Amino acid sequence: MTIEEFRREIRSLKEKGIYPSNKSYMLPSLWIAEKNFPAITKEIMRVISEELSVPLVEVEEAATFYAMYHTKPKGKYVIRVCTNLSCMLNGGEEILKEICNLLKVKPGETTPDGLFTVEEYECMGLCDGAPAVTVNEDRYLKVKPSDLPEILKKYGWKGENGKTSP
Ligand code: FES
Repeated sequence: MTIEEFRREIRSLKEKGIYPSNKSYMLPSLWIAEKNFPAITKEIMRVISEELSVPLVEVEEAATFYAMYHTKPKGKYVIRVCTNLSCMLNGGEEILKEICNLLKVKPGETTPDGLFTVEEYECMGLCDGAPAVTVNEDRYLKVKPSDLPEILKKYGWKGENGKTSP
């Protein structure tokens, strides 16, 4: 998506008139940016600020407050592993450790090929399926360490001795 296309998306969202104020369109606009750009840059925040007539500082605050938004470049696939209470008690920390082992990254890092970013996450509201993992918008519940290679392969991981490729 180009910046101009993004601008048009915000305008067309506003034309739907589904929210009560300009400011109400800020989080949906950030979400459009999150899904269509590697990172929510200053330029993107400025576009949102201009289109919604919301102070830039408020857009920056929202973009940096919510963990679902990335202001630094992320991988094509963002893997989130919950380590909050239910997930921790059901092995979430082991899952995180194993994903990091397989991809050879630390939590918060992106693989060198830009394919995966791994994040430790607070509760995702999937506690009855603990431990929970998401890959972009796909959900995996009651995950076991032995499930991980198959899950990662769906997104292009080539195996421990192979090379990941986008
Ligand atoms: S504690 Fe992990 S999803 Fe709620």
